[in-house]
Amino acid sequence: MPHQKMPKLLTSEITPQDVYRQRREFMRLAAGTALGAALPYPIFAGEKLPDRVKSAYELSDKLTPYEDVTHYNNYYEFGTDKESPAKTAGSLKIRPWTVSVEGEVRNPKIWDIDSLMKLAALEDRVYRLRCVEAWSMVVPWVGFPLAELIKRAEPTGNAKFVEFTTLNDSAQMPGVNSSVLDWPYREGLRLDEALHPLTLLTFGLYGEVLPNQNGAPVRLVVPWKYGFKSAKSIVRIKFMEQMPVSSWMKAGPSEYGFYSNVNPTVDHPRWSQAKERRIGDFFKRPTLPFNGYADQVAQLYTGMDLQKFF
Ligand code: MTE
Repeated sequence: MPHQKMPKLLTSEITPQDVYRQRREFMRLAAGTALGAALPYPIFAGEKLPDRVKSAYELSDKLTPYEDVTHYNNYYEFGTDKESPAKTAGSLKIRPWTVSVEGEVRNPKIWDIDSLMKLAALEDRVYRLRCVEAWSMVVPWVGFPLAELIKRAEPTGNAKFVEFTTLNDSAQMPGVNSSVLDWPYREGLRLDEALHPLTLLTFGLYGEVLPNQNGAPVRLVVPWKYGFKSAKSIVRIKFMEQMPVSSWMKAGPSEYGFYSNVNPTVDHPRWSQAKERRIGDFFKRPTLPFNGYADQVAQLYTGMDLQKFF
């Protein structure tokens, strides 16, 4: 891995969490993989996620370096600058953490994050992330299909949409004191989109636990939609009959639609979506319909006017 795993800390900065993290890392290194595997499941950014299977979804694109993926972020709860989340998201407490699955389901449940992480086989999946500001990345995410969780929840016949709500805690998140968005950050998918095997409930990247700035401890990655649909640090998944209103739809209904499928022919009112700049590249490249995943997902929208339902 090209990045430094164990930053040097001043004694004054060491918290009980740091001590615990350092002790575990030491035991892991001392014990080697066999014994290391018996240690508690990894929870801190940079810890290796064990037992991953290779995904059926292959991508030959060059990966965006770890440093860029983790230092050029959108996470408005930690500031609106791309550099802010990496600097300030250290204050996010990722344990204890629960995700409430509720609404139109037969089996509502409050999942403890550690049980949720072990619900299904974790896969390494390389997906493109295309942001509405026309930059993009290629990230090796780690997670399992959201469908695995939905199956267990057993949606009722009334469930047509899924709403994702993320943490809203001003004590940990300096950005929620600003009125840039209506907090908590909310996103939504149609039930069939949420069930699509490409929709990934994500716990890690580059084989390791998600750094806080990338949405620890659990986020969504919906690779055929603009990045803002991929909600970070999720605390609630609610099944609904009515279409939920996302934070971005509320902020600018003419700029951000519910579907937000990557579409080079539908411009954002203030800029074109025809091209994108891959982080690290000099030249722009044409943006692909559905971010290059048309073969897998275009049939979800058969008969829909995608200029109207943008
Ligand atoms: N989730 C929350 N809770 N808050 C946010 O501000 N930003 C979104 C999305 N998820 C955001 C969020 C946007 S606009 C993008 S492009 C992606 O996260 C960025 O993910 P990354 O920082 O891991 O690349």
